[in-house]
Amino acid sequence: MPSNDDAQRNHVVEFFSTRHGDLSSTLPMLETASELEPALRDLIHSLTLRHREIQELDKLTLRITAGALLDDILDYVYTHFDQIIPYNRIGLALIEDNGQTVLSRWARSHHDNIRLGPGYAAPLEGSSLQTIIQTGQPRIINDLERYLADKPESQSTRLIVAEGIRSSLTCPLNVNGLPVGFIFFSSDTPNTYSAVHSDLFLRIADQLSIIVDKGNLVSELAAHQNEIERQNVELRHLNELKNEFVGMAAHDLRNPIASIQMMAQLLLEPLDWMADEDRRGLLQDMLSQTQHMLALLTELLDVTQIESGRLDLNLRQVQMDAFMARAVKRHTQLAAPKGTQVILEAVDSGYLNADPVRLRQAIDNLISNAVKYSPAGSTVRVSARQTGAEWRVSVRDEGPGITPRDRERLFQDFARLSAQPTGGESSTGLGLAITRRVVDAHGGVLDVDSEPGSGADFWFTLPAS
Ligand SMILES: Nc1ncnc2c1ncn2[C@@H]1O[C@H](COP(=O)(O)OP(=O)(O)O)[C@@H](O)[C@H]1O
Ligand SMILES: [Mg+2]
Repeated sequence: MPSNDDAQRNHVVEFFSTRHGDLSSTLPMLETASELEPALRDLIHSLTLRHREIQELDKLTLRITAGALLDDILDYVYTHFDQIIPYNRIGLALIEDNGQTVLSRWARSHHDNIRLGPGYAAPLEGSSLQTIIQTGQPRIINDLERYLADKPESQSTRLIVAEGIRSSLTCPLNVNGLPVGFIFFSSDTPNTYSAVHSDLFLRIADQLSIIVDKGNLVSELAAHQNEIERQNVELRHLNELKNEFVGMAAHDLRNPIASIQMMAQLLLEPLDWMADEDRRGLLQDMLSQTQHMLALLTELLDVTQIESGRLDLNLRQVQMDAFMARAVKRHTQLAAPKGTQVILEAVDSGYLNADPVRLRQAIDNLISNAVKYSPAGSTVRVSARQTGAEWRVSVRDEGPGITPRDRERLFQDFARLSAQPTGGESSTGLGLAITRRVVDAHGGVLDVDSEPGSGADFWFTLPAS
């Protein structure tokens, strides 16, 4: 016949079992009723602990699913797990380099003198951590000072003791049966850890390991995400620049088209309405507007072609004296109506390895600017000298020069600055931007020396061969 105590025990077991699973082994056989109360207290204590464990792990799992980063997860462990395992410090190290290195990945401590912090790396081979991996069991050292006296070669023990740590519980982390790292619980007090704690750890180890693994993945994903975000910002910026560019180009083409349209409408009126002279004037205007549009379109195509990386240089040996003489001659003729002189001041005879079409474009841009922005009747001086392995081409004018403010934008697309054409020439703001790209592509440098008010000296250097 069962005793009264046995009946009470069975009743308790049944009561808790309905809520917490089978507990018959957890509750010891009781000799007398007086033992029931402390036994129950123990039971409730361990149930509370277990409940807390489950709660904390649930919260952690929630964080993982919500995509928290490894560091956040570890921080959470650090601030919430002291109810489960005592510590003054928690560290995490991961096994890297195909199992060769243990790398300290994270550490939080009640002390602020962390010496064995993130980034600390040591070979796994031959270390005591290797034994932990082999046994798969947590290791407790309850007197680190004595441990260090026995193993003075252990650098990591030395560092941790210097932080004030006296006992430690080192727990292996495995994912799919493979060791991935370690969690170190450490305490300032000797003899902090016992089998209770390592058992506790073993119960939560799988989940922690997965967390570390997932957390790792999440960190990697976050790094990728950052990179993608960075590229997005860059692309958005490029897109804005492109829109701005298209906007300016469209604006520049709209005005001449609108005025050509207007003039064409006028010319469609009955013939006797307008004097021949006026009619010619309108046609002349239309012609110069279309010339401007054509020049603009050619330059636009040039910019886009160069920008999309299709500036294929067709390199030749360019005989510089003849080349420069022809360039100056072209502009002498163009500048004559303005009374502006273009003179070839100095040129070395020799060869330059360059794409002649692009080189001509660069030089034409500089000389035409010098003529365009200088007062009528002034002089433009051109030179091309070779010094050592370098050619230096220079175009000097007597125009308004470049203000420091204009200088900042001078070589950008659509930079129409304070200097205005002095003879009604057209201006797109693309010439210098193209020249810069051409000189760049040849491996040279384009720049300007100028005292505002006393002319500009635009020059570029190119490697001779
Ligand atoms: N030699 C120069 N002297 C003074 N200002 C200049 C000179 N060359 C260029 N600039 C200024 O720089 C701007 C950009 O020149 P550029 O890119 O060649 O375009 P564009 O000549 O079609 O306007 C010009 O609008 C002008 O204001
Ligand atoms: Mg120009």
